[in-house]
Amino acid sequence: VQKKKNIATYIKQYLQPPIAFLLEEIGIKAEKEGLHAYITGGMIRDLIMERPSEDMDIIIEGDAPSFAAAYAEEKMGTVHIHESFGTATVTLPDQIKVDFSSARTEYYERPASLPTVRHSNIREDLYRRDFTINAMAASICPGTFGDLLDFFKGWEDIKEKTLRVLHNLSYVEDPTRILRGLRFEYRLSFRMDERAERLAKEAGSSIKTLSNSRTINEMKLLFKETDPYFSLERLYELDVLDDFLPHAYWGFRAKEMLEHWAVPLYRESWFHYLLCLYMEKPDLLAKARFLAVSKEQKRFLESFIYLSGLPRSFYMQRLGTIHDALSSCRSEDLEAVSAYFKYALSDYAVSEALLDYQTKRQQLPLLRGTDLIAAGMTPSRDFRHYLFEVEKAALNGEMTTKQEALQFVTGRLQT
Ligand code: CTP
Repeated sequence: VQKKKNIATYIKQYLQPPIAFLLEEIGIKAEKEGLHAYITGGMIRDLIMERPSEDMDIIIEGDAPSFAAAYAEEKMGTVHIHESFGTATVTLPDQIKVDFSSARTEYYERPASLPTVRHSNIREDLYRRDFTINAMAASICPGTFGDLLDFFKGWEDIKEKTLRVLHNLSYVEDPTRILRGLRFEYRLSFRMDERAERLAKEAGSSIKTLSNSRTINEMKLLFKETDPYFSLERLYELDVLDDFLPHAYWGFRAKEMLEHWAVPLYRESWFHYLLCLYMEKPDLLAKARFLAVSKEQKRFLESFIYLSGLPRSFYMQRLGTIHDALSSCRSEDLEAVSAYFKYALSDYAVSEALLDYQTKRQQLPLLRGTDLIAAGMTPSRDFRHYLFEVEKAALNGEMTTKQEALQFVTGRLQT
């Protein structure tokens, strides 16, 4: 028989007083209405780990949406109801959010003296969750305030720093739990147990059914809070990397690009981190198009694909010559391709040429249209052409001063 645990002292000690007060208030209201209310999920996990939490997930044994609607009205807050899920989110006037979900109550008619029956619904609710450490609930009603429902040894797993799934279909039901698992591993220094790892390794076909947007959303969360090297290494170990991200390859080139390009230049950018997985061989970058969701990401990736696909002989030409093709490229794109040639292809000469081009281009222009007007010339369409010629000559080192540039253009315009 499970020894009864109570976390009331943790609530008092680790939650901000206004949060603890809100919980008590909700519990009292639930009891008045003949319902029962529990906190659940991350808040309990954090409390047992002696950490603060503001994440109020409340289970109502009863109809959560109507309870939440009445609560919101009382507190002059707003309520957002998801009828089909039996859930509701209340936003209080000070912007604090409280999430409510329903546990079914069919057995309520039975005599109250059957606690196992009474709890069977909430037990079922908790059983459907991701990991045992998140599958506890604690009463917030008066009289039982803080009493912990821990059917699956979540407390023990927290103490042992272990991530255990509740049943064999946990990842099949929701493959993003594997990514959540990695967040918890990193954030809490926990580790999946042998079964959780084995099930992840077997989840390939379920992972492949995930929509692009769900995968990307979870990847965003993952890279927001973990070290990318840790996460990619773990996904590789679990053999699920290319199930989540088709064609992804965590090899030497990806590691080099991550370390020398994505991490130093793009902190916390899931997009740039994941792009590194598509640099193992030429043409692989094109397979990463599904990652580019924003307009800017699409623009960047297309430019990257184009620039990395140009032959090295192109980059080995004089700077003035490559300026024809690269003048409209952003510096950021040139830096990326320079890093790609250096770290992914070990082609230092091209990498240097690109950096040289980019540095010298930043020193342009030697001469502007306004300089030509000031020198008494009438604006014409040819201006732009000759100014570009000046840029090319300057990049080739054939021209270094404004005076030389001016002479060059005046000469051309007069012929
Ligand atoms: N949950 C789940 N499966 C998921 C997402 C969530 O079982 N794919 C459950 C877990 O019990 C979790 C709860 O829903 O504790 C609330 O989810 P969420 O707020 O996303 O996670 P937290 O555990 O609170 O984690 P965090 O500290 O990152 O907010």
